[in-house]
Amino acid sequence: MKTTLTTVCPVLETERLRLRAPHRGDIEAIIRHAGDPRVALKTTRMPHPYRLSDATGWLDEIEQEIEPTFAIELKSQPGQMIGVISLMPREDRVSAEAGYWLGVPYWRRGYMTEALRGVLRHAFEERGLLYITACHMAGNPASGRVMQKAGMKFENIVAGGLVREGVPYDKVNYGLFADEWRALHC
Ligand SMILES: CC(C)(COP(=O)(O)OP(=O)(O)OC[C@H]1O[C@@H](n2cnc3c(N)ncnc32)[C@H](O)[C@@H]1OP(=O)(O)O)[C@@H](O)C(=O)NCCC(=O)NCCS
Repeated sequence: MKTTLTTVCPVLETERLRLRAPHRGDIEAIIRHAGDPRVALKTTRMPHPYRLSDATGWLDEIEQEIEPTFAIELKSQPGQMIGVISLMPREDRVSAEAGYWLGVPYWRRGYMTEALRGVLRHAFEERGLLYITACHMAGNPASGRVMQKAGMKFENIVAGGLVREGVPYDKVNYGLFADEWRALHC
């Protein structure tokens, strides 16, 4: 079977969310949510301002790389993308880095914690990965709290480890091994 974005991004369901492959129909929502500086400026890679060409370029990129990248929808608002969560495999193919963002109107309702838990479950139970990492800029405690609530363990801080537009930020690293996840959930 030919590998496509849809085959590497199966639909994942959590209590309130549906995670599925992003598509061209999401472009308006991507621009609206990713265009908010409160979202973009907490990441290292999202441009600001965020243009139509950024959204189409991002979709081109994930379609070519064919790595697990999920659009997040509320089950109560089907079809409306509210954020993104990805699981970028490392070269060893047994570990991956999780990354995410959520549209501002949806913050502080536990949605990203729910999405990360769903993706960790998928990574360990269905993809057989052994170790997942995630990181955030110092000064983004909400992201660190999501990692903690999903069961990830604080590992270290790398001074100046993240750079956005030439400015270094301390990088706060979290990780979770498959056996630690099983101990939490089995
Ligand atoms: C980080 C982000 C994904 C969180 O999404 P969310 O759905 O609001 O997260 P949740 O509701 O699951 O959990 C957020 C937690 O952070 C806490 N929090 C939020 N803002 C905070 C702040 N300024 N300081 C400390 N804690 C904060 C919330 O209280 C909550 O913890 P609690 O349940 O213990 O009270 C969202 O804010 C976002 O997209 N930010 C911009 C992009 C980004 O930072 N991406 C990650 C890059 S590493």
